[in-house]
Amino acid sequence: MSRLVVVSNRVGPVRESAKAGGLAVAIVDALRAQGGVWYGWSGDVTPEGTHGMLKTEQAGRISLMTLDIDQADYEGYYAGFSNRTLWPIFHYRLDLAQFDRELEKSYWTVNERFATRLYPMLQDDDVVWVHDYHFLALGAKLRAMGARQPIGFFLHIPFPVPEIIAALPGHAALVRAMLAYDVIGFQTKRDARAFIRYFEEEFGGTATADGHLTVQGRTVRVGAFPIGIDAETFRKFAMSPEAHRQGRRLKSSSEHRCHVIGVDRIDYTKGLVERFRAFSRLLEHYPENRGHVSLLQVAPASREDVDAYVDIREELERITGNVNGRFSDLHWTPIRLITRPLQRRSLAGLYRACQVGLVTPLRDGMNLVAKEYVAAQAEDDPGVLVLSRFAGAAEALDAALIVNPYDIDETAEAIQRAVIMPLDERQDRWRQLFDKVQTEDIRAWYSTFLSALGAAGHDTRDAI
Ligand code: G6P
Repeated sequence: MSRLVVVSNRVGPVRESAKAGGLAVAIVDALRAQGGVWYGWSGDVTPEGTHGMLKTEQAGRISLMTLDIDQADYEGYYAGFSNRTLWPIFHYRLDLAQFDRELEKSYWTVNERFATRLYPMLQDDDVVWVHDYHFLALGAKLRAMGARQPIGFFLHIPFPVPEIIAALPGHAALVRAMLAYDVIGFQTKRDARAFIRYFEEEFGGTATADGHLTVQGRTVRVGAFPIGIDAETFRKFAMSPEAHRQGRRLKSSSEHRCHVIGVDRIDYTKGLVERFRAFSRLLEHYPENRGHVSLLQVAPASREDVDAYVDIREELERITGNVNGRFSDLHWTPIRLITRPLQRRSLAGLYRACQVGLVTPLRDGMNLVAKEYVAAQAEDDPGVLVLSRFAGAAEALDAALIVNPYDIDETAEAIQRAVIMPLDERQDRWRQLFDKVQTEDIRAWYSTFLSALGAAGHDTRDAI
């Protein structure tokens, strides 16, 4: 079996951690199955940066190889072009995007340096799999150095429609650089279509129904590979002693109460402000919920050195204060906001103890919280998932209560419907959802991607 070399900006943690995001958990699973190398940023900022020592660490069958970056790279490549430019644009927030040629230059340079340090370590029969918006151009840099291995790319965040991408100065060079990959994977069919449409409209590309995109003589495979979770393991987490403890603690603090749960990094894409407003609207329109229904929002801080993130936390604290001041009584607090990260086992317990899961991003690549909430439910008394139509997860999880998160009234109505939903309807919807979560699981994700990459590698390597 060939060696798998995974490249992503964040590397690790390999062991269970409160900090592990969806990307990290998914990659660990893929690498554990096959063994291989995981290469990327160490998370450290040092004066030597990418020119410093390669840090290596062995974790079972996974070799972790990381580089530091320096302060200028941190500001230009990571906090800058990746998170101030690409992240907002790819999430349809042109109003928040910063356009600055210096940031763009830093991004290309860091992509090139990561490629330069990786290239000499590659073996002939390696398969390289690059992840996410931080490294759109890394494949092109590897090819320019002479790499002939199959190289695939998976975008964890949405790919916007061409009209939005076209607003990015320098978009043509960046998006065309992606054609160096043999397989380009997206979370949803909608994203894959947007990518193909970009090339059709901007460069006269043509695509076959099965996703072979040809642009100026180069053919790549484009497809939707919806990421999933390890449903069995997460279900076991939800039944673990730690999960029971958390669930019991929540229930005993508020007996006979219905809990609505949300779990998100603090990010403007997650629709947290709109969600809190919808919850407040629920209490206004359906006063019978006062004293009974609480929202538990777990929202760990993230990217606090990017301006657009700073105000959201304060805004959430302000709304929480207003809603609680207005509706609380001595025995009931409407919104509880926890801004520290929780261990995945504890989260699983909370999901299971909460009757409604609220996943209402304004835009999201997939959103694995939706899938985890479903996996954690008790079969005989499952909770109800309220899901944004703008989360990638909505493409498969259409048995959830689907909402437009911008529509505060509609979201409030959906929460009310979830709170009073009869048991047979809850079971019926949950079975459909769990079936999807089990089928489109983490193994299906990486094995279909890697087999597409295996096949495409053979087709196209000689054409480069
Ligand atoms: C999203 C991205 C990941 C990223 C994560 C956490 O899920 O798709 O690539 O690692 O957010 O963000 P951070 O900036 O802390 O890595």
